Amino acid sequence: MERILNIAQVGAPVLRKPTKRLSKKELLSDSVQEFIDDLIQTMRAANGAGLAANQVHQSLRICAIEVNCNPRYPYRPNIPLTVLVNPDLTPVSELMFENYEGCLSVPNIRGKVNRFCEISVKAMDRLGNPISTVVKGMTAATYQHEVDHLDGKLFLDLVKDSKSLVTWDNFERYHQKEVAS
Ligand code: NI
Repeated sequence: MERILNIAQVGAPVLRKPTKRLSKKELLSDSVQEFIDDLIQTMRAANGAGLAANQVHQSLRICAIEVNCNPRYPYRPNIPLTVLVNPDLTPVSELMFENYEGCLSVPNIRGKVNRFCEISVKAMDRLGNPISTVVKGMTAATYQHEVDHLDGKLFLDLVKDSKSLVTWDNFERYHQKEVAS
């Protein structure tokens, strides 16, 4: 039975601490497998595009990502449910783009950050099978946002221009058109 976990908010030390890598044996333990179910359930309940383990107070290098007609991000391409364990990201090129981001750990604020357009991903899936793939665009930005969490970083750290900070309401009112086109 999955549980909805409590999401840590900005200022909680667990969000600032780099997370711990898991061995395959640790990953396959009942407690970690149950935790992954809870992580997914919590992400879905909160309409997150992703959720990192340390956002729910477990300092483990695991995150979940899924976009399926997300009401918080109506302009985003769908991403099938993906669990990344021990992910490492490498930019494929230096090319970057500006992306408006929000975060379940940062109440009601979105801001503009620069993300690599294309990244190569090495990780394990939840059963310990290797994942090796390349992702692009907004999907790549979501991966970078979640793996930043696992490194103890928040999107706020990357906001270059504080004038880009907006509430979610004002994002819809003034900025959504520029990203939806
Ligand atoms: Ni976040």
